[in-house]
Amino acid sequence: MAKAAKKTRPRVVRSVKALREALAEWRERKAVIALVPTMGALHAGHISLVALAKKSAKKVVVSIFVNPTQFGPHEDFSRYPRPIEADLDKLSEAGADLVFMPDAKEIYPDGFATMLKPTGPASVGLDDKFRPGHFDGVATVVAKLFTSVMPDIAIFGDKDYQQLQVIKTMARDLHLPVKVIGAPIVREKDGLALSSRNVYLSPTERAAAPVLHQVLKESAKAIAAGEDPEAVLSRGRAKIMSAGFKLDYLEARDAATLAKLGEQPRKPKVRLLVAAKIGKTRLIDNFAV
Ligand code: PAF
Repeated sequence: MAKAAKKTRPRVVRSVKALREALAEWRERKAVIALVPTMGALHAGHISLVALAKKSAKKVVVSIFVNPTQFGPHEDFSRYPRPIEADLDKLSEAGADLVFMPDAKEIYPDGFATMLKPTGPASVGLDDKFRPGHFDGVATVVAKLFTSVMPDIAIFGDKDYQQLQVIKTMARDLHLPVKVIGAPIVREKDGLALSSRNVYLSPTERAAAPVLHQVLKESAKAIAAGEDPEAVLSRGRAKIMSAGFKLDYLEARDAATLAKLGEQPRKPKVRLLVAAKIGKTRLIDNFAV
């Protein structure tokens, strides 16, 4: 029986110099280039970003870099999953053209002294409050990825909704010529948003985890129907805590700026955002009202 043809692995480059050499030929041919930045441990959510990138661009670069500067001292940097071979297989299957996989010294060489310090949506009392410095690390590494790859478009998941607004603002403020696109959250059948951190969940924690999506969905419906957002959210907070979570926040915010509601001259689009910890695992999710 004939074997199914095995897709060839995308080329992997580890230095900015090799990356730029690989991109030069595509750029000469005026190929539209998309970048999908990741920290690896790829799941169907990441693969949906690659699929969207392939629809929007001729060539797709995926970066895999577990960025130390966006982890706090007590966070999971050292135990963050790094299944490199499985990731490369998934990227072959998804049809990525090039993988940029630098080591920490390539991104942060000795003497590295320039960190970005985003404010605006990076300073609204959501993840910024619970992960101090996190968005400095995200903005800095994404700016470095943008200036290294110089993509025409870059695709990020809506799941990290605050991150997406921070990156859109950073690209606009620094005049980086890249269109930043958010892609819909991919969920398990029971509603749990896909995340590389879901592998940390014990069976009991995994069984409790869909409550985050349930509460977001119910709350969005109630708020859209005209119920008082604060009353709805305090019901939601109680439900999340009684499912065994330690809640960081469940909030309704202006979808674009992430400012608190009531601070806008006109009625804004509203986004509900949640972050909560079960056992040692912190999960985030969000939903449009
Ligand atoms: O969302 C992620 O995986 C990371 O925060 C990112 C955007 C790749 C930056 O390290």
